[in-house]
Amino acid sequence: MNSAKNAPKPAKLTLNLGLKDRNTFGLDAIAEVAYEITAADQLPELFKELADKKQVWRALGGGSNVILPNRMPGATLLINILGQEVCKTDEQNTWISVGAGLNWHDFVSWTLEQNLPGLENLALIPGTVGAAPIQNIGAYGLEVGEYIDSIEAFDSEAHAFVTLPQEACQFAYRNSFFKQNPHRFIVTKVVFKIPKSWKPRLQYADLAKQFSNSNTAPSAQEIFTAVCNIRSQKLPDPKVIGNAGSFFQNPIVSNVQYEQLIEQFPSLVSYPDTPGMRKLAAGWLIDQCGFKGQRMGPVGVYEKQALVLVNHGGGTATDILSLAKTIQEKVRHTFGVQLDIEPNIF
Ligand code: EPU
Repeated sequence: MNSAKNAPKPAKLTLNLGLKDRNTFGLDAIAEVAYEITAADQLPELFKELADKKQVWRALGGGSNVILPNRMPGATLLINILGQEVCKTDEQNTWISVGAGLNWHDFVSWTLEQNLPGLENLALIPGTVGAAPIQNIGAYGLEVGEYIDSIEAFDSEAHAFVTLPQEACQFAYRNSFFKQNPHRFIVTKVVFKIPKSWKPRLQYADLAKQFSNSNTAPSAQEIFTAVCNIRSQKLPDPKVIGNAGSFFQNPIVSNVQYEQLIEQFPSLVSYPDTPGMRKLAAGWLIDQCGFKGQRMGPVGVYEKQALVLVNHGGGTATDILSLAKTIQEKVRHTFGVQLDIEPNIF
């Protein structure tokens, strides 16, 4: 037995790597030491080394939901584990195993090419497959957690790989077990379970409107195209203007607080939530406070969607967080509602 022959290739290391092109906010962050992870089996050795050196670390996927500091201390792990395959099928479902580094939108397109509809409402969400379950990405009436069978991750505390079944992932609105335990797990692989019985999911008004003139139900491909069109009209393209999608979560308040608010603000936009609770449209709250299109130095609020903060160029994490604080204070003062930041602050 030659163990050296089977040893994984060590992760590629780069010093002082610029991350401007690796975060959708376009923040000019520098990673002191960056490691490119192309295979899960590189992680145990790397984490042994990081533990020996007592080095801190952060994992970066597509960089679409993060606010990076100017200098990233310690090790930045660029997760680039690729590959996707149908790994199991029965009469009801198809299981697909996917590397964490795959681009999310490319993966959704691939599922449709394979005639495995289900994820089309989540088209065009930036980021990677491995990052998707962390904040349980969702759009147009669907959340990714619903389609996840299990997740394989490296647990940096136990120095071992774990496989978490869906029930253990604690998926909730923009939340999961991984988000609750930040900087502990590195997602390496996601196994999706796609039901064979497919039905279009059109309960979200914006999407339903696109097909209101048609007598026949749309195909998954048509929904995919419609979602891409709606998103590109409402959300800024990060390649053109830096942003991380929705910057705040839609706040969830009690029905009692909601009743008081709707009396005072009859045009308040909200959605039913769990019993006794109501989800408010944060974009509406921010818009009402007059922030839409406003600028504060190099950063601002997107002119077409008040929930999106943008970097017009040269903005830093400090600029973004100070604008966020101004918005949070005004919304709290006007509506008595707390807005929570959605992206992860590194
Ligand atoms: N609105 C305004 N002014 C604005 C923005 C919104 O009045 O400037 C009102 C509108 O009446 C609109 C309502 O707020 O009907 C809700 O806005 P929208 O339909 O655009 O959805 P959202 O609540 O702003 C959420 C997700 C998005 C997801 C869309 C579509 C969150 C935090 N955001 O946005 O997710 O794409 O619904 O399902 O839940 C993301 O998380 O990055 C993201 C883009």
